[in-house]
Amino acid sequence: MKTYRIAVIAGDGIGPEVVKEGMRVLKHAARQDGSFDFSFCEFPWGCDYYLKNGRMMPEDGMERLAGFDAILLGAVGDPRVPDHISLWDLLLKIRKGFDQYVNLRPVRLLKGAPCPLKGVEPGQIDMLFIRENSEGEYAGSGSWLFRDTPREVVLQNGVFSRHGCERIIRYAFETARERKQSLTSISKANALNYSMVFWDQIFGEVGREYPDVPTESLLVDAASMLMVKHPERFQVVVTSNLFGDILTDLGAAITGGMGIAAGANLNPERKYPSMFEPIHGSAPDIAGKGIANPLATAWTAGQMLSFLGYPQWEERIVNAIERVMEEGRVLTPDMGGRATTRQVGDALLACLA
Ligand code: NAI
Ligand code: MG
Repeated sequence: MKTYRIAVIAGDGIGPEVVKEGMRVLKHAARQDGSFDFSFCEFPWGCDYYLKNGRMMPEDGMERLAGFDAILLGAVGDPRVPDHISLWDLLLKIRKGFDQYVNLRPVRLLKGAPCPLKGVEPGQIDMLFIRENSEGEYAGSGSWLFRDTPREVVLQNGVFSRHGCERIIRYAFETARERKQSLTSISKANALNYSMVFWDQIFGEVGREYPDVPTESLLVDAASMLMVKHPERFQVVVTSNLFGDILTDLGAAITGGMGIAAGANLNPERKYPSMFEPIHGSAPDIAGKGIANPLATAWTAGQMLSFLGYPQWEERIVNAIERVMEEGRVLTPDMGGRATTRQVGDALLACLA
């Protein structure tokens, strides 16, 4: 039997509340399956750690994580710590340091999920967002000149390397080919006349290797409109770091909300551990109340199982999530219910059994 070693960073706010349920789902899957198991090692890193130690994780944090098979992360962010510090010194450090250049975010309307779009049925929204996760607008390149003077100038550069664009676009084409689906590239070449012209050019170049994959290129503003008006036309989607970040929140909003939106940060070559985290943040407005929706983290745990080689378990977890929502008796307040995080976790495990 294979035992996977999982590093758990519960983080801040509702992070610890939802991660507990994610671990229960993984343990439950292991017990039922019998061919694999998990051992968890929890790291108390995040904003509390920062307030005590002046850093989000210890100096050797990355070395300590490197030996694990995967990382399960809750959320990071606390009103007492500037967001750019908590994000850069923990989340982005791991994403970049472990070259997790694929951010995989399903935007899928599950059965029973609340959808704000009129007349849209489950099955009509089934997108897979592949967001570039290592460079682009979030490369951290720029400068702050003449600070606090009247001449103050701020530069924030987008970094689009041939290597970085090719590998994410190729990953997206491979995914679309495997799923026998179309691939939509979302960019903005009319206004971003260097970076996005380059992105579109590489999309065309790589696309010539995949004549069997139907493609479409959209501008990000038009794409956001179409996601609301005609969500059914999107299947696999590839886009840049910033656009992917924004569009997947929109995707979450049309498929049941932040409480159910899952995401994976993958290093496809498996040279480093990949990291699995719901796309929501630490939700300070509801933290500590025990009412955070654990379904996003449960789905994220499913993505981890899929990446470790058990895609049937992701499907089973998604089916169980659908049953919980369709029954509709045990849901957290964000989905119109009155249940606690733990009660939803219990209901989910019951459906998984
Ligand atoms: P957020 O995702 O934490 O919250 C947005 C809204 O969605 C809030 O009303 C919240 O209550 C609700 N919500 C989110 N997750 C939920 C869940 N599981 N169940 C029920 N309701 C849920 O985003 P916000 O408020 O912009 O950011 C809060 C903090 O989180 C900030 O410090 C931010 O930097 C950080 N953040 C961290 C991320 C991460 O760790 N990956 C991602 C996004 C934000
Ligand atoms: Mg985001």
